[in-house]
Amino acid sequence: MIDITGLKKSFGAKKVLNGVDLKIEKGITLVIIGRSGCGKSVMLKHIIGLLTPDEGHIYIEGKDITLMNEKEVYSLRKKFGFLFQGAALFDSMNVEENIGLALKENTNIPKNEIKDIVEEKLELVGLPGIQKMKPSDLSGGMKKRVSLARSLATNPEYILYDEPTTGLDPIMSDQIDELIKDLSEKLKVTSIVVTHDIFSVYDVADEVAMMHEGKIYFKGTPKELTETSDTLIRDFLNRTDKKL
Ligand SMILES: Nc1ncnc2c1ncn2[C@@H]1O[C@H](COP(=O)(O)OP(=O)(O)O)[C@@H](O)[C@H]1O
Ligand SMILES: [Mg+2]
Repeated sequence: MIDITGLKKSFGAKKVLNGVDLKIEKGITLVIIGRSGCGKSVMLKHIIGLLTPDEGHIYIEGKDITLMNEKEVYSLRKKFGFLFQGAALFDSMNVEENIGLALKENTNIPKNEIKDIVEEKLELVGLPGIQKMKPSDLSGGMKKRVSLARSLATNPEYILYDEPTTGLDPIMSDQIDELIKDLSEKLKVTSIVVTHDIFSVYDVADEVAMMHEGKIYFKGTPKELTETSDTLIRDFLNRTDKKL
């Protein structure tokens, strides 16, 4: 389980996180929504120790990542796969080399086993047999899948997705949502999905959290979200619907 308590973070004079409290139970898919710039990506980066908070704690399976040294954070990060915006594939390498890179560089797993792992992960993301293709030959949706296969290579227990459907057309977005759901069921991973896409909430979420003014303003099921009479949430949902 991940337990975030009293998380605060400012950049200069700008308060971004102002006391985030959030519990994420093991095995669920939590979708995080909220206005652009409200701190969703900043929060995700804290969970894997890419940012350190000004105040507050993040317990991952009981251990506080905010108190760990670099080596401990690095080791803990192995439990996580992440699909972040702008996390590009290396154009000079083929798909197989991209997916196997971390295993080649950070483990003693022999070459032929890495090959098998790459094959398995490509099957998981629905792209069997494309090992020899170059990133430049792939569509946007395929690139996302390959990036996802790359983050699955190390068998993570948690997968963090930051706006995984941004820049994709609605059909590709649906396919990525399907995949998120599918992986969560097949691999029993805990998934945290940041999205601006309200359809993703209904498609994949067990629970949904809405951030507002540096705090978790709402947490509940998708059904509870749609049934709420809270005006701030209603406004957010209406505005998001209109944009689509
Ligand atoms: N490394 C940084 N340095 C300074 N400001 C940052 C940094 N990262 C994020 N911010 C600011 O924090 C706010 C929240 O950013 P972010 O978490 O990326 O928003 P979003 O909810 O859209 O993901 C924004 O105003 C952004 O400009
Ligand atoms: Mg963001």
